[in-house]
Amino acid sequence: MISLQPHHTFGVIAHCSEFTSITTVNQLQSLCQSDSAEAFVLGGGSNTLFVTNPKRVWIIDILGKEIIKQRENYVLLRVGAGEDWHSLVKYCVEEQLGGIENLALIPGKCGAAPIQNIGAYGVEIKDVLQSVSVVERATGYRKEFHKSELDLGYRDSLFKHKWKGRYIIDSIVIKLMKQGSHDIKTTYGAILQQLQDGGISNPLIADVFNAVVAIRSAKLPDPKVLGNGGSFFKNPIISVALYDELKAKFPTMPSYPISDTTVKVPAGWLIDQAGWKGKTVGNVGCYEKQALVIVNHGDATGQEVLAFSEMIQSSVEEKYGIILQREINLI
Ligand code: EPU
Repeated sequence: MISLQPHHTFGVIAHCSEFTSITTVNQLQSLCQSDSAEAFVLGGGSNTLFVTNPKRVWIIDILGKEIIKQRENYVLLRVGAGEDWHSLVKYCVEEQLGGIENLALIPGKCGAAPIQNIGAYGVEIKDVLQSVSVVERATGYRKEFHKSELDLGYRDSLFKHKWKGRYIIDSIVIKLMKQGSHDIKTTYGAILQQLQDGGISNPLIADVFNAVVAIRSAKLPDPKVLGNGGSFFKNPIISVALYDELKAKFPTMPSYPISDTTVKVPAGWLIDQAGWKGKTVGNVGCYEKQALVIVNHGDATGQEVLAFSEMIQSSVEEKYGIILQREINLI
């Protein structure tokens, strides 16, 4: 039995009987051609909660960064699926390449980033992604998808439903703008505040990166210290009619416009106001600085975490009539 505790950020107790590190596309293709049955594919395990023990686990360790196109104002970079996301962000910032600095400190590997279209502080990977290269599990056949074929949405893509389990991403291609040509995104309130506090009025790529690192470090628990999977739930999108009804009862409820008829409401606020922030049951807790994050205080099992999350869901539903959807993947 191999422990999966070191291979995912929640750090819950889980095991598998066969564990394979995949380091090349050829290895991935031949494994798919020989026998991919029951293999669970893991990237950085930063959005995964094990509630069962998978039999076989494949971990994608395909590395490499290669500039495949260089123009006056931008570059196209191909990145292996096994590269650590935050290290990639740091590399780009050091090279003065802009586009992903707002996505600093997101745990996980590059291959997983398009699956749920990672996003933070006003930027999503869909803004820079050009294409993904995948291997089809059933055949070992390799193909490239342009980003327009992936239906990238809020924490969503075809890899999460229609194509679930069908393809394994081996690399991604992103477009990065050179300093000076890059349109820096500082509209998200917290970034602007952080920059103002630092007396920075004309931010460079590195300034935005530093601001995001400071904000995230202050609000979100480091998974190396306290097991967690980032936001446990998605921010629910509700009708304006329901929002107006709720706002009359709960006047401070925040919202972000999505369309003429819908708004997004922060799940963290709902959970916080329902009294969960900082609460602990057994080994599991709701993080004291950000209610959207569920943390593992010790040797929690996935089932304990799930049970705790269901208590939160019920209490939010009871208070607001909103059913929170999980952002985390259950295995
Ligand atoms: N809020 C509270 N109490 C809390 C937490 C939040 O009242 O305990 C309120 C805040 O005051 C604010 C609002 O909720 O008005 C939104 O909070 P915040 O800006 O911290 O962002 P979030 O909606 O909680 C989302 C993403 C994060 C991402 C941040 C920044 C989702 C599910 N989560 O969180 O992504 O880093 O915005 O862009 O969309 C992740 O996906 O794992 C993740 C961390």
